[in-house]
Amino acid sequence: MDIFGVAYMSRATRLMSSEDIDSLLVDVRANNEAIGITGVLLYGDGRFFQYFEGAQADVDNVYARIRDSKRHHHIVEMEYRQIPQRLFRKWFMGFREAPASVLQKLSQQQWARERPWVEDHSTESPGMHELLKFLDSSAK
Ligand SMILES: Cc1cc2nc3c(=O)[nH]c(=O)nc-3n(C[C@H](O)[C@H](O)[C@H](O)COP(=O)(O)O)c2cc1C
Repeated sequence: MDIFGVAYMSRATRLMSSEDIDSLLVDVRANNEAIGITGVLLYGDGRFFQYFEGAQADVDNVYARIRDSKRHHHIVEMEYRQIPQRLFRKWFMGFREAPASVLQKLSQQQWARERPWVEDHSTESPGMHELLKFLDSSAK
């Protein structure tokens, strides 16, 4: 089965409290677990960063749900590509609060979308490298 990964950033329509985030995650995780979508969501300073992965049809369905949500806007896609294997096997949607500096860095990194002529599905983009570095440093 071909696995696809998507990364994007967006702005929250209004500032999210931790209760707002919790109720969003309950909905998100229930759906993701049912269809087999894994990934991680970051929130900080009114901005979201999300990476999610799964079978292409499921990824596309979830992406449509995400784009339809009124809880955020100004969605900017960083990466949409086929990947050799899942990176987040057990996270039906991990969550971390992230400082503005980390979100800023992720937005500036090079993601695969900027190099569509590269056919190599096996290497991690510099953006993904930065994301994994942040997750390692904030491991719970
Ligand atoms: C930041 C963000 C991330 C989301 N991630 C997912 C996801 O991983 N899987 C999913 O099925 N839906 C996801 N959604 C969609 C929500 O679960 C829900 O369908 C949507 O927020 C409902 O629409 P509403 O926000 O306009 O009420 C996400 C929504 C937002 C705002």
